[in-house]
Amino acid sequence: MEKIDNYVPRSIDDYDRLYKESVTNPEFFWEKIALSFIWRKKWNNVLSFDFNKPEFTWFNGGKLNISENCLDRHLLDKPNQTAILFEPNDPKEKHQEISYRELHERVCRFSNVLKKNNINKGDRVCLYMPMVPELAIAVLACSRIGAVHSVVFAGFSSTALAARISDADCKMLITADGSFRGNKTIDLKSIADEALVSCKSVKVSIILKRINSNIKLNKIDKWWHDEISMVSNQCEPVGIDSEDPLFILYTSGSTGKPKGMVHSCGGYMVYSEYSFKNVFQYKRGDIYWCTADIGWITGHSYIVYGPLLSGATTVMFEGVPSYPDFGRFWEICEKHNITHFYTAPTAIRALAKHPKSFVSKYNLNSLKVLGTVGEPINEEAWNWYNEVVGKKTCPIVDTWWQTETGGIMISSIAGVTDQKPTFATKPMIGIQPVLLDNNGKEISENGKEGVLAIKYPWPSIARTIYGDHERYKNVYFSAYPGYYFPGDGALTDSNGNYRITGRVDDVVIVSGHNLGTAPIEDAINLHENVVESALVGFPHEIKGNALYAFVILKDDSKSDNISKEINKLISSTIGPIAKPEKIQLVPGLPKTRSGKIMRRILRKIACGEKDNFGDISTLLNPEIVKVIVDKN
Ligand code: PRX
Repeated sequence: MEKIDNYVPRSIDDYDRLYKESVTNPEFFWEKIALSFIWRKKWNNVLSFDFNKPEFTWFNGGKLNISENCLDRHLLDKPNQTAILFEPNDPKEKHQEISYRELHERVCRFSNVLKKNNINKGDRVCLYMPMVPELAIAVLACSRIGAVHSVVFAGFSSTALAARISDADCKMLITADGSFRGNKTIDLKSIADEALVSCKSVKVSIILKRINSNIKLNKIDKWWHDEISMVSNQCEPVGIDSEDPLFILYTSGSTGKPKGMVHSCGGYMVYSEYSFKNVFQYKRGDIYWCTADIGWITGHSYIVYGPLLSGATTVMFEGVPSYPDFGRFWEICEKHNITHFYTAPTAIRALAKHPKSFVSKYNLNSLKVLGTVGEPINEEAWNWYNEVVGKKTCPIVDTWWQTETGGIMISSIAGVTDQKPTFATKPMIGIQPVLLDNNGKEISENGKEGVLAIKYPWPSIARTIYGDHERYKNVYFSAYPGYYFPGDGALTDSNGNYRITGRVDDVVIVSGHNLGTAPIEDAINLHENVVESALVGFPHEIKGNALYAFVILKDDSKSDNISKEINKLISSTIGPIAKPEKIQLVPGLPKTRSGKIMRRILRKIACGEKDNFGDISTLLNPEIVKVIVDKN
């Protein structure tokens, strides 16, 4: 059996050598990495692909079980090591340390609950849950029996939840009686109930008791604790085809409904462990904490799968960085001797606003590696992270990737390759990024700017958009044939380090959350007094970007509570994260002669630009620009 650790670089020379190997003969390279996992049946061929169809298969013909690789594999050499360290929202509630042995047992038990409730291989199960160990247990239980999990972030509204359940035709919903969030509780159960009114595919709903609220069970509802008491704690993992779907995870698109990205079992497993070990350089005994939510891809790949496949101790935190005060992250770091801390630039910027004493109060000597993900990090935030948190002794990995890529694509490797503030730096081993110019031609020199593209498949590339392969093709493979197009712009420095400059489409990243503008505009337009709206992003000190809505009303005399009402509509159709920072009522929107809104101009206005809009004479209504600026 190959050992994956032999392919994890420990020096720049290792990185250079392994990178070269991985791109010179990718199939040979990935085959060696894949051989370090437990396969129930070996694959027929490592990779076959066609960028035009598009179709990618990795380790086709192979059979595996990812939960077996996350759990059973570690029972021999580390049964008593903590797998999940759970830190509750309330610091007064006791934390939990769940060993690999216990996690294995609880996952097996819950797998039996799924089976007892008629969930079979290929069925979709929706998870709408707080950040508690049971969420990870449910994820792993699905994967153990070959059911496809679709985790929906528990901050989404009932409408958004219903849309995701319906799109994936989920047979089961797993939720909780509520969740804790700082000093508030959130009534997840009534949100779920509201969603289920329109989701007839759901036949059973399992409810975890978390906040002890007084909820009423519906006909299809069953308590988690009752269900697990009725089944055994043994469940043999079954061999699942490498290309069978492992999960669906929704991400916003620049138009229309959210895209259910489908990840498959074999390639995702291989890449999530390998990338985790590479980037973080995790060593046995380390305590790794990623502050993301499992409702996002970061939580899937780098709270659950990557760390557990690697036999790591992974922390799950239920709360928020500001409760009971702005020192909570650092209190947890001290309490659990965290060695690896991985968070979002938004959180860093928010915490950097507060006195340094919130950090310095705690002993952070255990920290070895810091990481960021989700959006570009500005130099000031990077420096604060480096100096105040890392005391200039911890490498910072700025990891660029996406829901679609499944794993980290461009990042420095902690303590191994060079870091550079605001640059994600170099591709991961096996990843082949390029910059393309306006004509779609590869830019070969360093020090240039272009759109980012990936020119060769990697094991954890999403295989399709659930139920809409045509859209998958159009969004990611049509603009630049022969490449995967992630929708980001980038530049390189003279050494070939990549800096991600931001989205080149109508997706805005707000506080690290990927928000498509079209669905939010649709929500605003639901208001009976709204004629039309346009949403753009603008730079925000803490959130990275915030949303600016330009709204045309039918009747301006009825505008008293309009902002409140629009915000309410957005919260109920999408979720509070999508609320705009600013709403400006306007008499019209700048449009091209073909009727397309000129967002470029609106973006400039949102940034405070007063003139300098370039040539606007070709607009249908150039005079509107001054009117909007004057009212800004
Ligand atoms: O624009 C890039 C930005 O986040 C987008 C992907 O969002 P999502 O699918 O929600 O996944 C976020 C967590 C992986 C990307 O297209 N992004 C992500 N990481 C970075 C980033 N932008 C700059 N630097 C990063 N490190």
